[in-house]
Amino acid sequence: MNDFKERIAAELVAVRNRSLAYTEAEDDLLVRQHSPLMSPLVWDLAHVGNYEELWVLREAGGITPLRPEIDDLYDAFKHPRKDRPSLPILGPGEARHYIGGVRGRVLDVLDAIDPDGPDPLHRDAFVFGLVIQHEHQHDETMLATLQLSREPGLVRDGDLPPGGSAGAEEVFVPAGPFLMGTGTQPWAYDNERPAHRVDLPAYWIDRLPVGNLAYAAFIDDGGYDDPRWWTPEGWHWRQESHARAPLFWTRDGGTWWRTRFGRPEPVPMDEPVQHVCWYEADAYARWAGRRLPTEAEWEKACGWDPSAGRARKYPWGDDDPGPGRANLGHRAARPAPLGAFPAGASAYGVEQMIGDVWEWTASLFLPYPGFRSFPYREYSEVFFGKDYRVLRGGSWAADPAAVRTTFRNWDHPIRRQIFSGFRCARSATPEQA
Ligand SMILES: [Fe+2]
Repeated sequence: MNDFKERIAAELVAVRNRSLAYTEAEDDLLVRQHSPLMSPLVWDLAHVGNYEELWVLREAGGITPLRPEIDDLYDAFKHPRKDRPSLPILGPGEARHYIGGVRGRVLDVLDAIDPDGPDPLHRDAFVFGLVIQHEHQHDETMLATLQLSREPGLVRDGDLPPGGSAGAEEVFVPAGPFLMGTGTQPWAYDNERPAHRVDLPAYWIDRLPVGNLAYAAFIDDGGYDDPRWWTPEGWHWRQESHARAPLFWTRDGGTWWRTRFGRPEPVPMDEPVQHVCWYEADAYARWAGRRLPTEAEWEKACGWDPSAGRARKYPWGDDDPGPGRANLGHRAARPAPLGAFPAGASAYGVEQMIGDVWEWTASLFLPYPGFRSFPYREYSEVFFGKDYRVLRGGSWAADPAAVRTTFRNWDHPIRRQIFSGFRCARSATPEQA
């Protein structure tokens, strides 16, 4: 195998080790449903193997199905998450055996494909990018499930660099066009394509995500009790949900506590706020006299290099994220303190856009002009419309393989079990522009 294929083989091993680490638990914990929002962990485990079988073995490799009778059980479109515990899914031992059997044949396909050939699944080893990213995304989902389980001691924590606070609060992005989306990133999904010119008026965007200290001030100021800050749908959600703070927060006297992977701890005031839904982010922004950035504003501030007139893969350039640039890949089980990554700043000087928390944007999940679904409609196309808001940048739980400046995530505006936060923006006045 050449270097390119060796690198892919190493990525396959790394992501599988991650999935197996998150499912190294008692069977009971794996088969139980911890929230109607989530699948049992053992479903995710077999599903990533089934997806790998469908796409790498059958579609790209032309290999006869190993277990066609289980396809239906692991088709995310046929069974909503809440119904998955009642399906006759594979048990933990069987699931591990099945995904290991699939993986045993995957390297043969990797060996056989021609990454320079005409088959779009083989070209640049796209189909391997598809399954590696897919498995990392499920690993992040499994972490959200483990957080909801409130079971202590299952998720590894780690060290992160300290925060820093020097610098402006917000960054000015001058008016002008930039290239949104990509036609050059080989593993980009269909919804990130094609690259297209977007001309934006001047705006300001926060240098850092909104932190817990600022968010607590919104709560203390009665932000959850004042319908002025909320959209009608957001206010309806606020009343129905009885939410008074981010998910997993509780108040004890004057101190905010949170439960993080089963352990209570005081909320660190210097971290980006996490586990807020779109309605909360939007209400906070209005309270602060600001608004959420559009997806285009977010991407320009993150990836555009105005002096080179080109888009970068990451805020700092095209080099891989090192430990000094971003908090990705579950180094620790939390976002890093604000200002921890000055070396990860974008060309405009905006920090912590990649990693730490997924950032809600103002935008609905819609196709770019010229969108073509690939390799299947259910990846993106069926989600376009009014139901989902776009999140950008990846969280601490996202892997570098599944994050870039053009990467788009989407979710319902009420969701907050995900590792979601936000930053604010505002339009420049005519004098500033
Ligand atoms: Fe999936």
